[in-house]
Amino acid sequence: MSSTAASAPPRNLRTALPLALLLLLGCGDEEQRAGDDALLDKPELRTGEEQRERLCSRPESDLVIDAFCGDDAPPLSGLMDLRQVMGLGDNDNGINQGYAATANSTSLSHRGVSAINPRIIFFRLENEDVEDNVELIALAYTRGEQFAELVVRSRIDGELQFYLVAFTLPCEESTAGCLPGDLLTEAVEQDWGEISVYAEEDLLNTPLDCRVCHQPDGPGSEKLLRMQEFRPPWNHWLWQHSVGGRSLIDDYYAAKGDETFAGIPGPDILTSQPGLLSALVFFAGSDEQPNEYRSDLIEPEVRQSANSQGGNQPADNSVPGESETWELIYEQAKRGRAITVPYHDVKITDADKLATMSEAYAAYREGTLPREDLPDIREVYPDDPELLARIGYTTEPDMDGEAIMLQACGQCHNEDMDQTLSRSRFDVDLTRVEPMVLERAISRITLPIDDPDVMPPARFRHLDAASRDRLVEFLRR
Ligand code: HEC
Ligand code: HEC
Repeated sequence: MSSTAASAPPRNLRTALPLALLLLLGCGDEEQRAGDDALLDKPELRTGEEQRERLCSRPESDLVIDAFCGDDAPPLSGLMDLRQVMGLGDNDNGINQGYAATANSTSLSHRGVSAINPRIIFFRLENEDVEDNVELIALAYTRGEQFAELVVRSRIDGELQFYLVAFTLPCEESTAGCLPGDLLTEAVEQDWGEISVYAEEDLLNTPLDCRVCHQPDGPGSEKLLRMQEFRPPWNHWLWQHSVGGRSLIDDYYAAKGDETFAGIPGPDILTSQPGLLSALVFFAGSDEQPNEYRSDLIEPEVRQSANSQGGNQPADNSVPGESETWELIYEQAKRGRAITVPYHDVKITDADKLATMSEAYAAYREGTLPREDLPDIREVYPDDPELLARIGYTTEPDMDGEAIMLQACGQCHNEDMDQTLSRSRFDVDLTRVEPMVLERAISRITLPIDDPDVMPPARFRHLDAASRDRLVEFLRR
């Protein structure tokens, strides 16, 4: 499949993009551009001021455009500046604006999120009934990522509009590169270098394509805010009024103590308000979450099944729970008909690994462990591949090739997705796939996990060698 592009080759992104962005987005490799149809190829991404020109040349009007499209880019040296520029600088967790943190995410940053590295969402509810119309905004952030995510409402068509704010860090220039201590501590929230703001249109056909999850029924359908655990007790969200939520808060503090996190003073983290976030989601019209995760049903099922075998869910997950309600939604995700679902147990962590990483982090905070020696505190998940598949990080160990394909590829390669993108050449309905593209699929599945072009994209799911072989065999037939 070595095709030489006849026309002028597109600018090679391998050299044009900083490494961090390259790993984020993959690269537009000419070899992948062999299609002779008119489908949109992987976009050429710009950065910094060049990207700002592209962003600001669109006929769009919303809070992000207000903030970034003045004469000069706003100077952002870190997360707190971004919060302030977007009007989310207040730490008060109030009645129409505030924040919520989760210990299990199914978003772009699902891998890496846990009780000791939570994902936090700052937001403000919209209100048209006040004199100064208050506009919707939410900002999602996870340590370990070199970006923050935003959603606002377009003043032009009234639709939700998604943006990614990517930043560079000084550690990228160092010989050692970025270490866990640079990415998973307060260091990652400061000293941001070049800022690149991408609209959702810029990210189409990349692994970060917001619409795959926020417009799951495809072009023309309504865009959604997501909160799969829309109802109380919001199983995986830090919430001081539920047993599960409190046990996650305890895990958080065991590692993090009183450190300031995302600009919030440590003691205030426990005011995390998932209920206010579900109000935002509700009033934005996204109350019907596809394949909803019913915390109200799943949590008691898990509790009863585990506790009848001597377990103590949700605080202790050493005896895993079982839930029929959860199995039904998992089945949808497994067949590629819905995005990954949050796990059935409140805790997704292995108790021993969690304890080790929490101790290391506490030692770092107390100054007895130097930052450069901090281990990767995201490594707290169990080793059991079956559990990992159910959490959403891999595929189930005993699956046949077709089932692997559905679980690993279905969410991005299906007929509801935008068919004008080159991504649509591959589809889990193989009757729609050209033989040449099947070959391409095989070669992309077998790429090393750190190759930006590997499929599925590494941030979403890793396939082990045996599963890859079974998938390749299936695609060859
Ligand atoms: C793989 C699916 C997926 C993709 C892709 C995705 N999101 Fe999300 N997003 C979610 C989920 C699920 C949540 C709910 C919280 C969680 O699980 O972390 C969420 C939450 C958010 C929120 C908080 C408001 C809300 O909807 O709850 C923002 C802001 C957001 N995403 C922005 C973005 C942007 C910007 C992009 C593209 C750059 C993007 N997302 C891509 C799944 C996704
Ligand atoms: C998170 C979304 C996502 C998942 C999951 C995913 N892909 Fe992709 N895939 C993409 C995107 C985006 C592109 C287009 C950009 C590119 O070529 O890198 C793409 C492109 C491809 C292409 C090239 C199509 C062409 O001819 O141009 C193949 C083949 C492919 N994917 C196969 C797979 C297979 C097989 C799986 C599962 C093992 C998979 N993908 C899982 C997002 C995904």
